[in-house]
Amino acid sequence: MGTVVILGVFVADTAYRAARMPVMGETIMGTAFALGPGGKGSNQAVACARLGVDTHFISNLGQDDFAKLALDTWAQAGVVPHVRQIAESYTGAAHIFIEEASGDNAIIVAPGAAALISPSDVEAQADLIQGADVFVTQLEQPMDAAVRALEIARAAGVTTVLNPAPAAELPEGMLALCDYVTPNETECEALTEIAVTDEKQAEQACAALMTKGVRTPIITMGQQGAYLAGHGLVPAVKAGPVVETTGAGDAFNGAFAAALADGQSAVDAVRYGCATAGISVTRPGTAPSMPTRDEVLAHL
Ligand code: RIB
Repeated sequence: MGTVVILGVFVADTAYRAARMPVMGETIMGTAFALGPGGKGSNQAVACARLGVDTHFISNLGQDDFAKLALDTWAQAGVVPHVRQIAESYTGAAHIFIEEASGDNAIIVAPGAAALISPSDVEAQADLIQGADVFVTQLEQPMDAAVRALEIARAAGVTTVLNPAPAAELPEGMLALCDYVTPNETECEALTEIAVTDEKQAEQACAALMTKGVRTPIITMGQQGAYLAGHGLVPAVKAGPVVETTGAGDAFNGAFAAALADGQSAVDAVRYGCATAGISVTRPGTAPSMPTRDEVLAHL
């Protein structure tokens, strides 16, 4: 088993289930509420660690109850934290609306102390990043920190994965630091201006990402599966009725990185990611929905 290092954000997910979203100025009644650990980077780290891989997470927290939730979550999953705790700030939170009928979501993230992650925070972890087999980041923390971490990883020959979520404009040259980039359809459209709904469009979007310097783009396509450049569509693996899709992308990315660190080929790693995501959507919550290695292998 290799080592995965992930840079990203922890937030407390506050999830509200309701039939629909309220419109501005309206109050509606929900059907359920849950508080749990979230944040894309943290979810990916939990997914990776639960699959049995040595997983390290770089982030910032406040010094409050949500920070305790983060540290407890990582201790339980086996994630090794490398965090700066900032007393003057707070641990972030996310407002998650879950549509009752479909399990689909709409999210607002307030990253709190994680919005203060700086290039110098990342440089302080250079040895850790350089020693990884796989480095992963997303776009919930400041962009300059993500770029600096990718530069350090790339210079050391570490396999780099960028999950460009949430969608954002990327600085010139950032994609050229990435071995793998894993947008969903919306994020892919933001990067390429190609709307992806089928395999042909996915192939075109992958070609566009490769001209920007990505070695191997992978487009996650929800219920269809994931499109791996140079291979084609790896179908989704349904594991039961969908309860909540929040965190499915994180399950995919954490498992994909775990499999790469384990020496699997890109296509096998994508299959592993799809199977992990397929299980996660049958359970409520984000980090708490991540399956174990045995569960994923049984499902595959
Ligand atoms: O990808 C899902 C995650 O996005 C949630 O856990 C939420 O915190 C947001 O960061």
